Amino acid sequence: MSTAATISREILKPHLKIKGGCPLKGEIKISGAKNSALVLMTAALLTEEIVKLNNVPSLTDIHGMEEILSAMGVNTSNSPNGLNLQAKLLSNSEPPYQLVNGLRASFFCIGPLLGRLGRAKIPLPGGCRIGARPVAEHIKGLKALGAVVSVEHGVVSASVLGSKKRLKGAAIILDCPSVGATETILMAAVLAEGITTIENAAQEPEVQDLAKMLNKMGACISGAGGPIITIKGVQRLHGCDYTVIPDRIEAGTYLIAAAITRSKIHISPAIPEHLNAVLQKLRDCGCVIATEMDGITINPGELTGVDITTQPFPGFPTDLQAPFMALLATTKGTSVVTEKIYENRMQHVAELQRMGASIRLQGNTAVIEGVPQLSAAPVSGGDLRSAAAMVLASLAANGTSKVEGLNHLDRGYSNLELKLNSVGSQITRRQ
Ligand code: UD1
Repeated sequence: MSTAATISREILKPHLKIKGGCPLKGEIKISGAKNSALVLMTAALLTEEIVKLNNVPSLTDIHGMEEILSAMGVNTSNSPNGLNLQAKLLSNSEPPYQLVNGLRASFFCIGPLLGRLGRAKIPLPGGCRIGARPVAEHIKGLKALGAVVSVEHGVVSASVLGSKKRLKGAAIILDCPSVGATETILMAAVLAEGITTIENAAQEPEVQDLAKMLNKMGACISGAGGPIITIKGVQRLHGCDYTVIPDRIEAGTYLIAAAITRSKIHISPAIPEHLNAVLQKLRDCGCVIATEMDGITINPGELTGVDITTQPFPGFPTDLQAPFMALLATTKGTSVVTEKIYENRMQHVAELQRMGASIRLQGNTAVIEGVPQLSAAPVSGGDLRSAAAMVLASLAANGTSKVEGLNHLDRGYSNLELKLNSVGSQITRRQ
């Protein structure tokens, strides 16, 4: 390729132009939670009746999941703020590889397909940029419920033997409180014969949301949100009308946008209890936070550094580690950030350094010395939350930054530039 062609291709790469230094003011509306909506969509496979989901965010991941479900015979249609899904006749228990590839959440189909049809064949989701992300715990749980599971040539095949093709309840103890494994086992166990217990279950709000919707569909689940979940299997589930919880990670990202620009904003709807660990760290930095039942106001003062270690819920979420590090690059003093969930989630460090941040990285621990001013640069987000971190750093930088990696950003943030521009930022998108 000629130099001119290379340059023009570079220029044409989709990116955001972000003018730094604009103060923010006003209110940002938070969308429905991506990680809830994705799993709730697959839960629609568990019934022949219509599942009406409200507050579904418009994101590329959600559109990808819609395509996968359609390919399996699910009738999907849009409603004003959501989706109607009906899995009346499932024509296919094997989601096509070309659709599944690239959307890890597609693996969620395995639990409901096994529960409903007694068989499923799903390509392994594989690793991703932030780490290996194994599914051993999902498979261990399905085997405990009586499924025969084999992994060959990158495809997981699972089936239930016997004429009834029904899984059997079991006592399952997870080695680690995996969100995905807890959700997979929950969805497989709701239609199983007898009682299932999941010990060391993930306690994330998205797991609670799934249990709540499944109960609305006729399931019998107790304990979700705590470390032990009990599921009493039922014969069948029915349709429901359900509203997805607000996205706590999107909410946290916009609170950090306010903090990094030293601006007062209000976000809603947001459930403050889902963000306790994040709100505490923002307060420790020097932000004044006021909470209502479904909203949060942040008013940053003079900000100083804090230490952060990512943990499963209710600890500090790994998905806000990169965005929070962007903030800590601008706060006074030293901060130490330790990533405990994923082995390769520090890709934003090099990009923040390019914007003038002072960060020393040792393995999965970053030591950050706050600088008075970041400077604009062309940067790129290598994964969803790194891309968000680049947007946040650009909001605070001196000058106009160019942020690439929109294929990642658009997986998790609906109308990001519209929302931020509505409170005063100056962001333009070049496709
Ligand atoms: C979900 C979220 C993701 C978030 C993560 C942790 C969705 C669609 N994604 O991902 O945004 O970052 O929770 O809060 O909901 N592990 C094992 N063996 C397993 C499964 C997991 O060792 O079988 C490990 C993983 O390598 C990782 C940790 O457990 O270190 C957490 O993974 P998990 O909770 O399963 O994350 P996901 O459900 O994939």
